[in-house]
Order: sequence, then C-alpha cells, then structure tokens
Amino acid sequence: CGKKNRCVITLVKRIAILNKRTFYLTTPIYYVNDAPHIGHSYTTIAADVLARYKRAKDLDVFFLTGTDEHGQKIQKAAQACNKTPIEFVNGVVDKFKTLWNNLDISNDDFIRTTDERHCRRVEEIFQQIFENGDIYLGEYEGWYCIPCESFWIESQLEEKKCPECKRPVEKVKEKNYFFRLSKYQKSLLDYYEKHPHFIQPESRKNELLHRIKTQIEDISISRSAVEWGIQVPMDPTHTIYVWIDALLNYITALGYNDDMQKFQKYWPANVHIIGKEILWFHGVIWPAILMSLKIDLPCKVFAHGWWTIEGQKISKSLGNAIDPTSIIQSYGTDAYRYFLLREVPFGLDGNFSYNALIHRINSDLGNDLGNLLQRTLTMIEKYFQGVIPEIVDTDDELKRLSKSTCDKVDAEMEELQFSKALENIWAFIGHANKFIEDKKPWVLAKTNTTRTQLAAVIGSLAGAIKDISVFIYPFMPRTAVEIQQQLGILEDNRSLCLEFQQGFKKDTVVRKGKPLFPKIDPLVLENVS
Ligand code: MSP
Repeated sequence: CGKKNRCVITLVKRIAILNKRTFYLTTPIYYVNDAPHIGHSYTTIAADVLARYKRAKDLDVFFLTGTDEHGQKIQKAAQACNKTPIEFVNGVVDKFKTLWNNLDISNDDFIRTTDERHCRRVEEIFQQIFENGDIYLGEYEGWYCIPCESFWIESQLEEKKCPECKRPVEKVKEKNYFFRLSKYQKSLLDYYEKHPHFIQPESRKNELLHRIKTQIEDISISRSAVEWGIQVPMDPTHTIYVWIDALLNYITALGYNDDMQKFQKYWPANVHIIGKEILWFHGVIWPAILMSLKIDLPCKVFAHGWWTIEGQKISKSLGNAIDPTSIIQSYGTDAYRYFLLREVPFGLDGNFSYNALIHRINSDLGNDLGNLLQRTLTMIEKYFQGVIPEIVDTDDELKRLSKSTCDKVDAEMEELQFSKALENIWAFIGHANKFIEDKKPWVLAKTNTTRTQLAAVIGSLAGAIKDISVFIYPFMPRTAVEIQQQLGILEDNRSLCLEFQQGFKKDTVVRKGKPLFPKIDPLVLENVS
C-alpha cells in the first residue's frame, strides 16, 4: 500500500512538473567589439531579477542571453587588433561570461551567433523565408552606419550623420537580398491594435506606430562587402545582414526546426528585454519575420531607458565606459544590482554617479536594512539567549503588512516595475524599524510581566526579516542568503527558503554576523573612483 502511495505521489509530481507554466525571457545579444559596460549589465541584471522572481514563483523559466558576433563592426575591430575575427570575439566573449558570473546572472543558456547550432539554423530559416516568397534580389542604394549596423535612406540622416548615434555613415550601392517588410504593414498595425500591451512602456509605442504608418519599406538583408557573417544559402557571395542573423537567436537557441519539443515548450517568449534604441528591430522587423515564418509573436517587448555616466553618454571616444567589475570589487555585487534597479524607474533614462551609489548603500542598505537585522539579532541574543521566540500574538501587525507588501510587489513585478517593487519592500523595512521604536522592547524587557509581549515583538520582527529576505532575493541573492544564515534558518548545505511567511522551527538559534553593508565614507571612495 505504501509503495502504491509513493507511486501515486511520484506521478502527481511528474504531472505537476509537466504542467508547470513556462516563462521565456531574453536579453539582447551583445556586440563583442568591446568589453561590457554598465549599460549591458543593466539589461542583463534586470532580466536576471525577473528570472529569479519567476523561478521563485515556481515557473519553469528559460532565461537566454548571448553575444552578437558577426558583421562589419566586429570585422573592423578584429583587424584593428591584428587578430582573426574568431580569435578576437573569443576574447571578448570571455569577458562577458566572466562579468555575468561575477554578477550572479542565472541564465539557462548563452548563445553565440558563431555557434554551429545557430549558423546552421539561420541558413535554414533564411531559405524558408525565401521559399515563402518574402526575400527577393534587388538593388540597394543608401547609407550604412557601421557602429549601429543599420541602413538609412538619405531623408532619415541628420546633418548627413546616423540619426541614431550621430556618427558618419557610409554610402552603399550594391545588389542585395531584400525582405518584404512593407507587405506586413497592415498585419503589424492589426497586431498592435489587438495587443495593446505588446510594446512596453506604452509611451514608446506611438513612435513605432507612426513609423510603421509612414516609413515602412522593404529592408536589405544581405551584404556582399562583409565577409564575417553567415552565408546566404542560395548565394555564397553574400552574407546575411547581421540584424537578421542576431534576431533569429531567440528561436535558434530553442532549437527551432531541430528540437521542436524545446521550442514548443518555451515559445512564444514572454518578454524580450531590450534598450530603447533597438525597439524598431524588435517591435517591427522581428514580428514581421515571425509572421513570414508563421510563428507566434512574443508576448511583450520591454524597452528600457539609457544610462549616462556622471551626466555623459557612455562612449568609447569619451573613455567613460566604466567596467562594472571595478564597481563590484569596491562596493559588492548586490549593492550594484540594487542601485541600478532602485535608482531609475524601469523604462526611463538614468544617470550613474558614485555619489548616488554610495548614498544608496549607506542609507537604504546600511541604515535601513542592515541596522534592522543587527538590532533585531542583538535583542534576540540579549533577551532570549539567541533563540528566536515563538509568536503567540495572533494579531501580528508586521505579518499583515508583509502580506500586503507581497501583493504590491507581485503587482509591480508583473509590470517589470523593479524600482517600485523595491520602494514597497523598503516601505516595509521602514515600518519594521518604526515598529521597534513604537514597541520599545528595551522597556518591555525590564519586567517579567511583559515577557510575553516582548517575545511577540521580537518574534514578529524575526518573521518580518525572514520575509524581507524572500522579497529581496531576486534583486540581491547574496544578501538574502546572508540574512537567512544570520537568522539561523539556513544551514550551509541547504538552499534558501523562499516560502513566504513560513514560521521558524522551534528553538532556532540566530548566528549574528558582520553588518550587511558597513558604512562607506564618501570622501575615501571618491578618491578610488
Ligand atoms: N547586438 C545588438 C542587439 C541584437 S539583439 C537581437 C546590440 N548590441 S549592443 O551591444 O549594442 O547592446 C545593446 C543593448 O545594451 C541595449 O539594447 C541595452 O540593452 C544595452 N545598453 C547598451 N548601452 C546602454 C546604456 N548606455 N544604457 C542602458 N543600456 C544600454 O544592439
């Protein structure tokens, strides 16, 4: 009978696993002409936070990032270093991978456009679009911006320069393969109308709509002058335009055309997280390609804003592209992750400054969160010999607040409003700190008659801190672990407890450690920066 029961339980578990809702999210694949900077790390951290959040909600998550390694820009960068393109890109890809590792990025796959799996599938898909009648040979005459790998027509140029990055453009006149983008004008407009939340933030949608209505043209999707790329299958004298090659990563990584099981499991993507400058490619060209292939469109494309550094655009020529590694070496991975997502509402532009970073560390992380933990653990040691008291009070004010915080955080995370989710978490931390001031445990500790009340206050605080560790886990995974270790609920070999409002085991002994975020003297660190 016991064996039968175990079989039934295993079966139920298997069915649950099979029925698990999936969540597929992606970052752009980054150009490897140069080392990663804050901007790249921002998108990847945001995606990681969402991936961790969704996993904690028990979804079957597939989180993809990778590198975009073909094209003229990279060919030129390799030449400038006297390296073959592949030698050159291998070196830069390692830098990206090391950084993701140092930033605790939990991606499930890392696709490189030089991967054999990707190249082979891109050729097949190109052939498929050609056979569907959406690719034709034509003549291209216009302007090309190498840094953006973008084609422009004369009227789009601004003072003869690229309208996107304002750098000089090159005149191009050659026979090219074209994709019939204009054919999809109406379908795209219909899709936008039926799916009003497809593009986020919605404020960015109008620009796109206007451009679809007024400027949509067939696009050149091959180059004869660029060798470093995937060959056009029906014409080896051409390589596939790097943007077509790149966009397809979102389905080649899922094994499209080969391993259809994986593709069917995760596609369509729940969200492509990108920067605002590549919205046209993701919101218009990519959907049209998918329409041509008769594949469902992604559920959402979220375009976030851009970071400047101390008020200036991040650029190679200004030499201000700070390596995130140097920031995390000085201030820690979690502080950096927290700062980027807390400082600026996701979707808007923001400015990075060391002063702002230090202020957030000292105030939000040190004063608010760090002190709450230290004070509470000190009281547990002082009044209860280090054992977390059981809660006997049924009306637990902090527990109620924690529940409502959880609802608010969930609502903000659904909308990718990371800074607002953090604001709500910090409002709760503020309440917990105020709770200490209001309840004055040091007064309750003076007499034995108030011992039960004291236990209720301290037990309630410990519960609140445990919930805070669950709330902050997607943003600051290391700090969540540290808090649970200090609370005595995380043994070294066990994984983090992500159960919200789960009580403590009887006689849990705290292990107060070092302060989470020791105060930084802004003057000393200004010199380091
Ligand atoms: N390779 C293309 C994307 C192809 S996706 C199919 C590309 N690569 S990129 O290296 O230029 O990276 C662009 C992405 O990096 C942006 O979309 C954005 O996510 C991030 N950022 C780069 N600079 C940035 C800032 N200054 N601020 C914020 N994010 C920015 O475009």
